[in-house]
Amino acid sequence: MARLDSAALDLILRKARTQNGWLGMPVTDDQLRAIYDLARLGPTSANSCPARFVFLRTPEAKARLLPALSPGNVDKTKAAPVTVIIGHDTRFYELLPKLFPHRPEVKDNFAGNPALAGTTAFRNGTLQGAYFMIAARALGLDVGGMSGFDNAKVDAEFFPDGRVKSNFLCNVGYGDPSKVLPKLPRLDFDEACGLL
Ligand SMILES: Cc1cc2nc3c(=O)[nH]c(=O)nc-3n(C[C@H](O)[C@H](O)[C@H](O)COP(=O)(O)O)c2cc1C
Repeated sequence: MARLDSAALDLILRKARTQNGWLGMPVTDDQLRAIYDLARLGPTSANSCPARFVFLRTPEAKARLLPALSPGNVDKTKAAPVTVIIGHDTRFYELLPKLFPHRPEVKDNFAGNPALAGTTAFRNGTLQGAYFMIAARALGLDVGGMSGFDNAKVDAEFFPDGRVKSNFLCNVGYGDPSKVLPKLPRLDFDEACGLL
C-alpha cells in the first residue's frame, strides 16, 4: 500500500509551521497555479468546489487588504510574497451541471434552500482552504493562515457584488524560521477522539 515517507510527512505537517515572517524569495504565478491544480483535486460534497481564491501579489493589491487586517497581521502580510483571500461562492450550485453532470438536478436542492447552500459553501470552502495549505507545503512553500481581519471590509473591497464571501486569509512564501513561534501543544487522542 502506498503511503508518504517520513520526509513527506515532515514537510506537510510534522515539521511545517505557521509562518510569521518571510524571506525575500518570490513566488511565481506558475507556482500558484500548481498549488491550485493540486488543491482542487480534494473532495467536496457533490463535487461542489465552492472555494474561490484571490491572490494578492503586488503592493497595490495588498494595500487594498491592509485596512481590514488586525494590527498583528499587518507586517507579516506586507512582507509575504503572496496573500490569498480564500472565500466561497454562495451560488456555487449554478456550476453543478458542469461539476456534477450525472445528477444536474442536485443544483435545485441548493437553489431553493439558501441555508443549506450557505452551510455547504462554508463547509466545503473551508476544506478547500485546508487542501490549499497542505498542497502549498507539499510543493515546497510555507503558509500562514489568518482569520484576524474584518470579513465585511474584505467582502466590500474585493467581492462587491456579494456573491463571494471571504472565509480566511493565507500568506504564502518561504518562511523566515527566526520568526516562527514556539510549537503549541495539541490534544491527545483520548482528549479529542472517541472509539465507539
Ligand atoms: C484559519 C486560521 C486562522 C489563523 N489566524 C491567525 C491570525 O489571524 N493571526 C495569527 O498570527 N495567526 C493566525 N493563525 C495561526 C495559528 O495561530 C497557528 O496556526 C497555530 O497556533 C498553530 O501553529 P503551528 O501551525 O505553527 O503549529 C491562524 C491559523 C489558521 C489555520
